[in-house]
Amino acid sequence: MSEQREEILKRLQNKFEAIQQNTDTHLEGLVWAKPITYWDYIQPEALLSLQIQRTTLPDEMVFIMYHQINELLFKMILWEIDQVCDHSDLTAEFFAEKLRRISRYFDMLSSSFTIMGDGMEVAQYMKFRNTLTPASGFQSAQYRIIEFASTEIKQLIDFRFRQDPSLSEDFEKAFEHLYWQAAGKDHATGKKNTLITLFEQKYKSEFLRKMEAYKTSNLWSKFKTLPQSVQDDEQLIKAMRHYDYTVNVTWVLAHFHAAEKYLESGPKKAEATGGSDWKKYMHPKYQRRIFFPDLWTEEEHKTWGEF
Ligand code: HEM
Repeated sequence: MSEQREEILKRLQNKFEAIQQNTDTHLEGLVWAKPITYWDYIQPEALLSLQIQRTTLPDEMVFIMYHQINELLFKMILWEIDQVCDHSDLTAEFFAEKLRRISRYFDMLSSSFTIMGDGMEVAQYMKFRNTLTPASGFQSAQYRIIEFASTEIKQLIDFRFRQDPSLSEDFEKAFEHLYWQAAGKDHATGKKNTLITLFEQKYKSEFLRKMEAYKTSNLWSKFKTLPQSVQDDEQLIKAMRHYDYTVNVTWVLAHFHAAEKYLESGPKKAEATGGSDWKKYMHPKYQRRIFFPDLWTEEEHKTWGEF
């Protein structure tokens, strides 16, 4: 037996002893193990069986698949954010590297939004959207979790109440004042609509747990724990600003313009499937969502969504 093989066997022995397992049993198991294949590992059959249309219109498939691609990328983004949030001994290099990965994924989502804007026939969209009412991308849980993981709750409070400190201390209260509550309420009665009622029935308790979990471990709080010299690092600040701007302006505007194209073309002009006053709600200049507030000048705050 070669020295190399002996060394490997020794390492295996150590590994299995540490978990009270018999090495010979595991080696014997290898004799019968199937060779790994692409299809067992990547699971394309499972993945490709998840595109179920509700209408006969072919462009509905583009709509479904692009949303699923978004959800996969959201998962990749959360995977990287969590590595930063869970890190107990964060360095500037690690933080910057993960931030660049996260931004790359969001850049992909922003630049590919033309798949929604230009990749479907308006006439088909206007038909199949009725079958999807009252569902909306608004109900994407991962999108909300990315926000909780990126910044402090105060930054996600409706712009009109953001300066009230009592709101961000109590998560139940904060939840009712998150900026996106505005899309879920009838302005006249204050009553929640079906879009948000169903969303909250499914995810509210998970969201409250996430708000608590990311309270001090979100990206913005983590950044502020880094030594001042690191926080002042120009490259890191550039990467932070890029991520903030991409999520809260570039993506939001790409989404806004795609929505505008379809919703403005219908007979019931500008009515969203989720039923929100979407134009006012969606434009970044009204919501002023900013993850990393101290990294922007006063002027940039004032003109958010317009530069
Ligand atoms: C033609 C395509 C699309 C249209 C017309 C559209 C329209 C809308 C509208 C009108 C809203 C406001 C809530 C409502 O009343 O429904 C909304 C929210 C939202 N949509 Fe889309 N959407 C499109 C594609 C997408 C895609 C591909 C995603 C990716 C997952 C997405 C994710 C979201 C999210 C996360 C929100 C909530 C944003 C916020 O709270 O500021 N949408 N969408």
